[in-house]
Amino acid sequence: MRLTRRTFLGGAAAAAVGGGGLYELVDRLGSAPARPLAEPAGMPAEQHLLDLATTHSEGVEVVVPPLHSAVVTANLDNLSDLRGAQRQLEDVLRRIDSTYALTPAGLGVTVAWSQTYFDTYVSTQAKAHLPYDRRAQKSVLVPTRRFPSDPANTILEANDVAVLFRSDRVEHIEAARKEIFDLPFFTVASIRRGFAGGGFGGGQSLPKKMAVAAGVPGADLIPDGSELFLGFTSTQKAGLGPGTIANHETLGYVDLRSGYFRNGTHMHLSHISEDLEAWYLNFDFDERVLTAFRPGMTNVRQGMQTVPQGPAAVSPEAELVRQFHKTGRFGHSASIQATSRLLQDTVGEDGTHYPKGTAIPQRADFNTLDNPFAFSADPKGDGLSNQPAAGVHFVVFNPSGDDFERNRLAMDGVFPGGKKLPVAPRNRAAGFNSVLTTTHRQNFLVPPRRHRSLPLVEL
Ligand code: HEM
Repeated sequence: MRLTRRTFLGGAAAAAVGGGGLYELVDRLGSAPARPLAEPAGMPAEQHLLDLATTHSEGVEVVVPPLHSAVVTANLDNLSDLRGAQRQLEDVLRRIDSTYALTPAGLGVTVAWSQTYFDTYVSTQAKAHLPYDRRAQKSVLVPTRRFPSDPANTILEANDVAVLFRSDRVEHIEAARKEIFDLPFFTVASIRRGFAGGGFGGGQSLPKKMAVAAGVPGADLIPDGSELFLGFTSTQKAGLGPGTIANHETLGYVDLRSGYFRNGTHMHLSHISEDLEAWYLNFDFDERVLTAFRPGMTNVRQGMQTVPQGPAAVSPEAELVRQFHKTGRFGHSASIQATSRLLQDTVGEDGTHYPKGTAIPQRADFNTLDNPFAFSADPKGDGLSNQPAAGVHFVVFNPSGDDFERNRLAMDGVFPGGKKLPVAPRNRAAGFNSVLTTTHRQNFLVPPRRHRSLPLVEL
């Protein structure tokens, strides 16, 4: 039976959200972690890489996420001169690059383009240059789809472009956002904002403070230092793809064809609502652990937030199936590991050695109180509300769209080759799925930095 307990705390803060006021709290509530201030020597060819420090949490090495993130989706409009627009956007991006270090103390900007953009503006060039996924026998940019645990009304979006901003400083994000989207050929479709971390040094994390200030149901149940609303650290180093592993070319899954998109990657963007009350009231700590990780863990003490997921802890598919038959349950992390970790030692295209058990996807998701967005050009269509709601803007980089789909299907108990664990997709036995609801999804391609502005129009 679902318990409900609507405790509204800090109602004044919740009321402020209508004017965007809630996000003004972010700077007051979050203290920036210590970061290297120096600009790295030269910018990387990859747009999706950001120099993130690590620290230790409960003895496990964890990546310190940027405190603040935002994604703006937009469409191109009033465009008569594609090359001119390309130059203008690149000028603005270069100005931003020269203003901020490419670290969370400065700003990371990642510009991603969709199939809609490629079809509408550069369809002939795209046919010749978009990379091809050899393993899946399809383009790296696959059509956006729903997954078994998605509701039937999950919106599959068709924006031209998405820009991800990451920084410890909200004002850096806001200044860059304005510069880019003041360009006359962009019409903004949505603005999505959020936060993560801030609690590794002790005290309350930013998600905890923000949820309590907004008064979302279940906020008081979030553990104080929790990196994200659901109470577990999700950026341990071993669970995130290292270096350039998520580039199209690194693991050999993808044929780069002309090579135009070398150093690029695939980005999936979704918004997921989280039912915090159901999570904390209907699941006790032990059940939360088996749901987030896997059944049968014996090394997790009560209240632990950072549960080691090193290469030795990885569950291959056979182990997951065995455990499921024994316990009737599977965990989020373990189900995905069957597809998100390397099954054998692998040498990357550039000679880098990746041991068996290395993670491939690079997640950049962050919590939000947007419901579902901070701004929408189509408030009715997007179901916009000014009541804050707990959720995640999920952002992840994979070598291809198919690689992302393998991970996301595994999260629902469906493995490559079609094998399916016998469980209803939103059942409590299936990882986090029963407390998550995906509202929006879209796939994008992230070109290398040198082609980030209206890719292919110069050809
Ligand atoms: C609200 C939603 C979600 C929450 C709170 C969440 C949380 C977590 C946590 C706590 C972990 C384990 C910690 C770690 O390995 O660092 C994890 C792992 C992971 N999650 Fe999620 N997750 C969510 C949604 C998703 C979605 C939609 C995907 C898409 C496929 C995903 C992909 C992954 C991957 C790839 C891993 C790493 C698995 C591994 O290689 O160990 N997560 N997540």
